[in-house]
Amino acid sequence: MAKKNEIPPYEKRIKWFHEARFGMFIHWGLYSLTGRGEWTFFLEREKAASYMKLADKFKPAKFDANAWAQAAVDAGMKYMVLTTRHHDGYCLWDSQCSDFTSVKTAARRDFVAEYVKACRKAGLKIGFYYSLLDWRFPGYWEPDKYPDSAKAMVQQAHDQVRELLTQYGKIDILWYDGGWLRNTFPPQIDLMIPFWRSKQLNAMARQLQPHILINNRSGTQEDFDTPEQHVTASEKGRGWESNMTIGDHVGWGYVKHNPNFKTVPQLLQYLVQAASGEGNYLLNVGPKPDGTIRKEELERLKKIGEWMRVNGEAIYNSERCDLEAVMLGLWTRKGKDAYLHVFRWPGKEAVIPLVKSKPREAVILQTGQKVEIRREYNGRLILSGMPEKPPHPYVTTIRIRFAEVPAKLPEPDLSAWLTGI
Ligand code: GLC
Repeated sequence: MAKKNEIPPYEKRIKWFHEARFGMFIHWGLYSLTGRGEWTFFLEREKAASYMKLADKFKPAKFDANAWAQAAVDAGMKYMVLTTRHHDGYCLWDSQCSDFTSVKTAARRDFVAEYVKACRKAGLKIGFYYSLLDWRFPGYWEPDKYPDSAKAMVQQAHDQVRELLTQYGKIDILWYDGGWLRNTFPPQIDLMIPFWRSKQLNAMARQLQPHILINNRSGTQEDFDTPEQHVTASEKGRGWESNMTIGDHVGWGYVKHNPNFKTVPQLLQYLVQAASGEGNYLLNVGPKPDGTIRKEELERLKKIGEWMRVNGEAIYNSERCDLEAVMLGLWTRKGKDAYLHVFRWPGKEAVIPLVKSKPREAVILQTGQKVEIRREYNGRLILSGMPEKPPHPYVTTIRIRFAEVPAKLPEPDLSAWLTGI
């Protein structure tokens, strides 16, 4: 029997995360009112007292955490991460260490509580994004000049993380951000750790929530990496999660006039790319000030969900596949099943070279159609009798079942293939 408060081994803690592969990031707070993203307070150098007045206007009439959770479930997502507090300092919960919260100002609601409840009801794992830095503290900008303020901000972080991890039951992810120090860019990790007292902070988090997964943004490595706006795999064995906006690269919170929404095929390709490297895809939405998710984002999530319902077996709990990368698209794998995700449909026939293992059968998941499969010289796997047109307009996934975990045919030297291996 595991003792209470005993931290389970890494493989155990991260297991659900690998199974999940796809989650929803939500940037929502006071800044949503501006319609210009979550950085306006600083970027526009607004006085703190003036920015903080936004709290008088923040009364999201249509906020419905269940609707968010439903959108995530419909998209095939398995978890959510909400900005409980971004860099502006405004808390979406009933924090006892601050007056700048949604409970003590006009909204009079604990959004975090509602969010947690909705996640649980929908069977989604629960993540809390928390920004260590708080722009309102002069000590953040000039710690040497205002050491007491800097100290108070760090203490606030410790106290608020404690609140978040004690008041809402089991929490699955602690997603830090804003750990960089004002005067150091790129972030100097060795300065961040003593500044935030990160080791102590994370030890406390793990004591309160022994199962929790913590990201790498408080200076210490912790459980998983967080490539931002790109999909880059970490070394095998290390958890990672790529986080990305649906719209422009700047602006995670609601940006009213956002001309660059990614297309569904782009988003699907990113998701597949993450899964192909045994990583997760945390796709962001920036709900409107009234609490609803804009239609441009909802429509895309819905389309991804339709694809996931058919092809999800190739994504959830995916493993890396050693087969040769081809022009067609990307691979994922599960045991002896390799999944070829075809982005650029080749027509009736597809060729994958350098396959050592014996194929048993190939099926197009979209239609359930079996296609002919044989292997010839140079380990060339030939899929034939396929439809001329792609069965799915964006990503058609073919499951190729092998007699063993599929392996690549080694090339004795660089030119051997010219005459045949
Ligand atoms: C950055 C930004 C922030 C956003 C985050 C998401 O650190 O400061 O606005 O929340 O990235 O990864």
